Amino acid sequence: MSVAPLRQAPSPMRVAVLVSGNGSNLQVLIDAMQSGALPIDIVGIISNREDAYAITRAQQADIPVAVLSHTASGKRMAIKTFERHASEQLQQWQPDLIVLAGFMRVVSAEFIDKRIAPMVNLHPALLPAYKGLDTHQRVIQAGDSHHGCSVHVVTAELDAGQVLTQGVLSVGAKDTAISLQARVQKIEHKLLPWTLLLLAKGVLTINERYSQDTESYLPTLPLKLLL
Ligand code: GRF
Repeated sequence: MSVAPLRQAPSPMRVAVLVSGNGSNLQVLIDAMQSGALPIDIVGIISNREDAYAITRAQQADIPVAVLSHTASGKRMAIKTFERHASEQLQQWQPDLIVLAGFMRVVSAEFIDKRIAPMVNLHPALLPAYKGLDTHQRVIQAGDSHHGCSVHVVTAELDAGQVLTQGVLSVGAKDTAISLQARVQKIEHKLLPWTLLLLAKGVLTINERYSQDTESYLPTLPLKLLL
């Protein structure tokens, strides 16, 4: 893998965000950026869906948007075509960090290996538990006492890269998959901007060659936010 480490960005850190839907996490980043609380510059948004409300949020904030959902002939874009256009777009924007925030397409190992900046993803579960989809339903079915969300480094293996931060909640007796989704999302809205702040300040560093055996004088990640 030949990706450059997250450079100690002279503030602000340039961030590109990939989205597929509502974009509430994107909105939190926009608000934090505009208030001056978060030293980032959101240099562009890529959406793989033309009906994503995240697009409207970006446009309202004057952030460049690339919608990569269909080809010029009207056909739904194949993943390879999406990846080629997305890579070209990211090359133009030159981000320091790529954030997947509610981005629902699985990209190829080749796309991940060739990324021009470190890439992190927001996942609605306490990784390494519950990789993949339907995390809230699976937590309810398993009868778990705790649940939450993780920000992790994207690697070719699905949801398996270094976990940077986690937000944790206790599952109540009355919780359903729907209530958990809402509760987890509230935590995401705190966890994602905090994680970006820690990355922008160089407090958290992304280790592209992460292994669980890596020795460290500091406590091992993830940092856990308990709510
Ligand atoms: C988040 O809850 C995230 O965990 C999941 O998709 C959701 C996106 O929400 N992967 P939004 O588009 O940021 O509102």
